[in-house]
Parts: sequence; C-alpha cells; structure tokens
Amino acid sequence: AEVRPRVWVSQPLFGDIVGRLREDFDVVETTQVGKHPPAEIATALSSSVGALVTLNDPIGAAEVANAPRLRAIANVGVGYNNLDVPALTAAGIVVTNTPDLLTETTADFGFALMMAAARRITEAERWLRDGQWRQWSFETMLGVDLHASTLGILGMGRIGQGIARRAAGFGMRVRYHNRSPLPAEIERECHAEYVDFDTLLTSADHLVLVLPYSRAVHHLIDAGALAKMKPTATLTNIARGGIVDEDALADALAGGRLAAAGLDVYEGEPAVNPRLLALRNVVLTPHIASGSLATRRAMVSLAVDNLIAALGRGPQAGHPPT
Ligand code: DGY
Repeated sequence: AEVRPRVWVSQPLFGDIVGRLREDFDVVETTQVGKHPPAEIATALSSSVGALVTLNDPIGAAEVANAPRLRAIANVGVGYNNLDVPALTAAGIVVTNTPDLLTETTADFGFALMMAAARRITEAERWLRDGQWRQWSFETMLGVDLHASTLGILGMGRIGQGIARRAAGFGMRVRYHNRSPLPAEIERECHAEYVDFDTLLTSADHLVLVLPYSRAVHHLIDAGALAKMKPTATLTNIARGGIVDEDALADALAGGRLAAAGLDVYEGEPAVNPRLLALRNVVLTPHIASGSLATRRAMVSLAVDNLIAALGRGPQAGHPPT
C-alpha cells in the first residue's frame, strides 16, 4: 500500500477545512482540545512531515530533535511566540502564520473590550443580574468617555492601525508608540501621532496593547509603567498576557490608580490570576479577539494553504526536493 506522508493537527480545527489535507497526506487529527505535554508534541512530530498547530503548542529545538522528516509547521494564528523560529529554521523547518485576514475582526474586538472596560458594561450586567438594581439612579455605574479622549496604541502594526481607524469615527485623538514611526502617509490615514513610550503612558486615557510578544517586552507594563498612567485611564490587552505584570495591574486596579482594564490574554492562560478574577473593574474574556466564525475559518484555511505550499502536493508531497 502507498505510504503517505503524515501531517499532525494539534487540536480540532474545522474538519471540513483540514480535510483538504487528506488528498495528499495521512492526517492525524487530535480530537481533544488542550495543551499537549512537550513529550507528546515531540512524539507527534517525530513521524510527521508537517503540522498545523496553535498557540497551545510550544515548539522548539527539543520538540523537533527527533523529527527528521518534519519540513513545515503552520501556526493557526498571527502571533507565533509559541514557536522558536530561529531553532526551527536552523533545523530546516519552514514556519508560517496567518496574518492580515484576522486584522479587522481583532480590531473590532479590541475596540469592544476597551468600550466595555470604559463603560463598565460587563460589571453593570453582573450587578443587574445579581438583582442589585432597585432604582434608576443618576450615579449608577459611571464610566469614562471614549469620545474626545486620547487613545494610546502600543504596537502600531496591522491591528493597531485598524483600531486607530475605528477611533477616528469615535472622535478620539490617537497617539501610538512603536519600534519606529510609521510612514507619514499611514499616520495621516490613521490620524495617529507617534510619541515616545513615556508620553504614551502619561497621556493616554485609554491604552491598548497590540504588540507582538517576545522576551524583550515581557512585563513591559509593570508597576512603574502603570504608575505613569492616569488614574482615570483604562488598559486593554489583546496581544499576549506576558506583556503585563498581572499582579502590578491588580494592585493598580484595586488601589484606584487605574480606572479599569479589559483583558483577552493572560500570562498563564487558561489560568487567570485569582486577584484579577476578584476585581470588579476588569473585563475578562477567554482569548477570543480573532474569534468570529468567518475569521477563525479563514485562519484555518490559510494555515492549510500554507502547509500545502510548503510541502507540495501530489505523489511527491512532503518529500524534500531532490
Ligand atoms: C493570534 O492569531 O495570534 C491569536 O492570538 C490566536 O488566534
């Protein structure tokens, strides 16, 4: 019988889309959602030519040390800090991600999370469902405005720019900080002004984090950074949890040194810092910013295309070019 090269799919990902791989590959699909222990990842990769993985799957030199046939890893996601790209590249493995098609969906959600934090939407709903609303009152759940406020965007890539374009419609003034300023034409189009990191912290009424994670930005938003922010400001994180020191954030939120926060990502996710869970002025969502049905399907589809492009099709699929 024909032995077809194997592709590992690390978690259930729209079977109808992943099924396209079956034309050329023996697809090993994981049926349970969840994190695999490193040894399990290594075993799955050891017999594969390619893999479809997600942020649940940290992969580096150790995981591919016994995977002589592995030639491509397609990450379903734009962020790829789960992958040690230099180590994988050194091992001759192509790594791909899924940029662009999730930009607008993720920007929508970042805006929604910021608004929910500023206007206390989930807190107010919990309070109402709790039966606490006895009388309409003038002072119930007072929030902070978005219109006519200053939005600070940390990380002005595709998603940051998407949030900036939305902010113009809300009458916000947009400032951003990035490794380097954007071309003047894009700044004009986004109505955004480049400022240094400290100015961003001190002047933002609403600060949104949209930068890629790397060790260099680990706990970039720490107690010192939070202390520079206005006590009336909000902080929204749709990037990666490790960018924020969660204990310092909990201190600032509990101590009235920050009005509210909106978090979609956590350092130890799916575990959420219990101190954050105990606070009422933080909106907590389970890493769903790119999660519209259409976008999540498009991400899987692009990842499948990426894998096929890297591995080739037909009888020679998965074999290195000779
Ligand atoms: C991404 O794309 O990086 C999201 O965080 C996960 O889909």
